[in-house]
Amino acid sequence: MSKGIKIVTIGGGSSYTPELVEGFIKRYDELPVRELWLVDIEAGKEKLEIVGAMAKRMVKAAGVDCEVHLTLDRREALKDADFVTTQLRVGLLDARILDERIPLSHGLIGQETNGAGGIFKALRTVPVILDIVEDMKELCPNAWLINFTNPAGMVTEAVLRYGNWDKVVGLCNIPVNAVFEEAELLGEKNSDLFFQFAGINHLHWHTITDKNGKDRTDELIKVMYGQDDAKSIVANIKDNNLIWEQVENLHMVPCPYHNYYYYTDKMLAEELEDFKNNGTRAEKVKEIEHELFELYKDPNLDYKPKQLAERGGARYSDAACEIINSIHNDKRTTMTVSTRNNGTITDLPAESAVEVTCTITGKGPVPYNFGSFKPQERGLLQVMKSMEELTIEAAVTGDYGTLLQAFTMNPLITSGDVAKEVMDELLEAHKQYLPAFFK
Ligand code: G6P
Repeated sequence: MSKGIKIVTIGGGSSYTPELVEGFIKRYDELPVRELWLVDIEAGKEKLEIVGAMAKRMVKAAGVDCEVHLTLDRREALKDADFVTTQLRVGLLDARILDERIPLSHGLIGQETNGAGGIFKALRTVPVILDIVEDMKELCPNAWLINFTNPAGMVTEAVLRYGNWDKVVGLCNIPVNAVFEEAELLGEKNSDLFFQFAGINHLHWHTITDKNGKDRTDELIKVMYGQDDAKSIVANIKDNNLIWEQVENLHMVPCPYHNYYYYTDKMLAEELEDFKNNGTRAEKVKEIEHELFELYKDPNLDYKPKQLAERGGARYSDAACEIINSIHNDKRTTMTVSTRNNGTITDLPAESAVEVTCTITGKGPVPYNFGSFKPQERGLLQVMKSMEELTIEAAVTGDYGTLLQAFTMNPLITSGDVAKEVMDELLEAHKQYLPAFFK
């Protein structure tokens, strides 16, 4: 039997953990995970204990030889890890409520990865991830970091640019979902199709080619957008509102988050309506989480409950397990991840993180070459990448002016005065998680 693998999951108390455990169990023959360390902080202790007990039951029911450890001591866990996964949320869901509520109450998009809320999620998260990387350099210098903490693209770029750590892969579930759902819409098996994604996290486009080399992109665009009841592929974004003539002209399939940029007014109106009637998405997620943890408490539950699919991040963790499997076994699976650009997209800096289709080898992701975008896509992409660069720089330096540049450049944050007002309110609200700004 090959040597067992040690995985450390930071933010182990997350409600998504059962999907991760299920992913490892089903790959056990290829990927013998013998130690799974679920790490959390004091504020997440109760959740860690509940979901950790559930993870132990799942492993036992599957009859695999894997020890599940629960700890609040990150450094103890990291020692000699082979893979570290990060699924943490700095400030827990209460911080996300503020990220959504404050912009919305000023009439701006309030969303966890886009606009003002997304910027603040990056500001809180980047320093914590860079700290984890410093611990990894000391305690597990050969390990890979698989990050699915949002905003996943900015976090990956921060690790590459400021953490001086190359063994990082950023992961999002949008491409995985697209592969599953869109193959079905085309009436094909996903293994018979090649999806080429290019762009950045939550702002990418893709083409689809079948096994005979035929480009099926326009056909899919027609199926998805050429009718009135087009549906989104993720649970947290409602219907796809995109304008038919615009999408048709792209000849690339946009991701669901393009709704925010191509149709800002409509998305904002929907969000404001929802906010008025039901509160923020984060508050809804809090309810779903509460229900999930009630289920996880059941000592007879030893499998992932179907209610987990109500969360937008479904299929994230399974994809993470597949990346780990592919790196460990040099499996060369085709997957879309955030990785260093290095000329894959010629319109963006070489050192940027980009979200592109890659072959996942034993040495990490190797991107399929993409080249350059048409102006239809290029303009927005370059603005957003510059905005990300400024946000990451602000997260590291705590520089107010740099942050204000990111805010005013972001197309979802409309006017200069409102931008500054919202930014100041968010800075104050998240003070305790932003030491770089309050030295
Ligand atoms: C998605 C995104 C994720 C995001 C999630 C939010 O589909 O790709 O990056 O975290 O949905 O889902 P939630 O259920 O937390 O609103």
